[in-house]
Amino acid sequence: MKTDFERTGPMNEVSSYPQWAQDIIAECEPARRRVRDHVMWDMMIEGRIDRTTMRNFMVGTWSLIERFPSFMALNLLKTQYGRSRGDDMARRWLVRNIRVEQNHAEYWLDWADGAGVPRVEVLKGRAPSGTQTATEWCHEVSGRDSLAAGMLATNYAIEGVTGEWAQKVYDSVAYADSLPLAGRKPTLRWLQLHAAYDDTHPWEALEIACTLMGNQPAPEDVEHLRECIERSYLSLHYGLERCLVQQPMEEVEEQAA
Ligand SMILES: [Fe+2]
Repeated sequence: MKTDFERTGPMNEVSSYPQWAQDIIAECEPARRRVRDHVMWDMMIEGRIDRTTMRNFMVGTWSLIERFPSFMALNLLKTQYGRSRGDDMARRWLVRNIRVEQNHAEYWLDWADGAGVPRVEVLKGRAPSGTQTATEWCHEVSGRDSLAAGMLATNYAIEGVTGEWAQKVYDSVAYADSLPLAGRKPTLRWLQLHAAYDDTHPWEALEIACTLMGNQPAPEDVEHLRECIERSYLSLHYGLERCLVQQPMEEVEEQAA
């Protein structure tokens, strides 16, 4: 059997990828579903999210948004042009897509602002405890693990599931209607850009990882990659849970006073 992987089927179909990749995608599906189906999105979609939860979500997720191009840069550092086809693909893709991320932090602040969370609060406010786990994990895996692990954990897993929830929220008329009419378009821009309609990024990241690993990686390497993908979903889920239960520090202090 040929050990090099070269995709021949459609990019956005799981069956186009090696069996080991199909297996870990299926195994990680329950963890992914916990993020995709989180009550946070229902609260937004039904236009019933409270101010504290929205604040916690905006402030708690900010570091992940702000640092995302840096994770890609850490992965770029691992590439070496001419070493392998996977390396060349990764290098080209990361260089191009770090640029695409350029304005996304600004659009996140616009979303927060329009949703009633002032940008100064996002920039300077204290993130609820436990919400930084995904950022810390992405930093660790992108900085210290393999190129395939880093790209699967960030560009495949995090971006992939983000595209799914962003699409749900962006499609919600009730959510759009809950926002002030003036400035609604910029408020929704981050969601619009990240909604998964035809986002090819996660698939491209998967293809690059499969090209790097080939058709028959060692079972222990496959298990490690599975764990990295699952950790991304679990850390996102944990962060979302913390947004629901935590209050901003000022309010906690006010109540204690
Ligand atoms: Fe982005």
